Amino acid sequence: MNEEFKKLAAEKAVEEIESGMVVGLGSGSTVFYAIQKLAQEIRTGNLLNIVAIASSIQTEKLANKLDIPLITFHDKQKIDVTIDGADEVDKYLNLIKGGGAAHLREKILVQASDKFIVVIDDSKLSNKLGEKWAVPVEVIKFASPVISSFIESINGEPNLRTYESGIPVLTDEGNYIIDANFGVIQNPFELAEKLENRAGIVEHGLFLRLSSKVIVAGQDGIKILEK
Ligand code: A5P
Repeated sequence: MNEEFKKLAAEKAVEEIESGMVVGLGSGSTVFYAIQKLAQEIRTGNLLNIVAIASSIQTEKLANKLDIPLITFHDKQKIDVTIDGADEVDKYLNLIKGGGAAHLREKILVQASDKFIVVIDDSKLSNKLGEKWAVPVEVIKFASPVISSFIESINGEPNLRTYESGIPVLTDEGNYIIDANFGVIQNPFELAEKLENRAGIVEHGLFLRLSSKVIVAGQDGIKILEK
């Protein structure tokens, strides 16, 4: 069922893409369906002259397999629309991202985009961020132990993300991820500032005031949340 909702939301977002656009491709299991749909639209000639920028190696591989023309920021520095999933979305359309360890590149895409469309199934909605997810924090390896202590000092519970084997997960940039559980986050802006001020933290997964539109699919169909 969840998969159906993800597909519904993701395919709806592709309607916002027009010929000639530079498209930002997020990462994860929901945007997967948007990437498939975009490839289909290109293949059938419904969308012409599309180029895309991928937010992860995984997405890059998928786009290549589907013959979506990829460029990098060395070619163009402005994206018309980025489509991506999220792990948690609050009522102000602030997000937690990074469940797939790709939030650093994803945020870079979003900040270079005119429009950022988030696609989710309704299980991702919450009243306040932190109800469902810890905040993924990408850190350089060298700093990882000291950042864990720092997270404790600001009342979070740090967990270095590892594979089942116990080996730490590495991001596409070769960094570690610490999942920082702060419980329900009363003031995400304050928390974001604290994390941003700490050397060794490359990027956190709080995406605040960045999304233009959230497409949510659930039992009752599609709902569009806009600010
Ligand atoms: C990747 O690091 C994440 O930010 C994903 O965008 C997020 O985890 C959503 O993924 P799913 O669509 O697979 O839930």
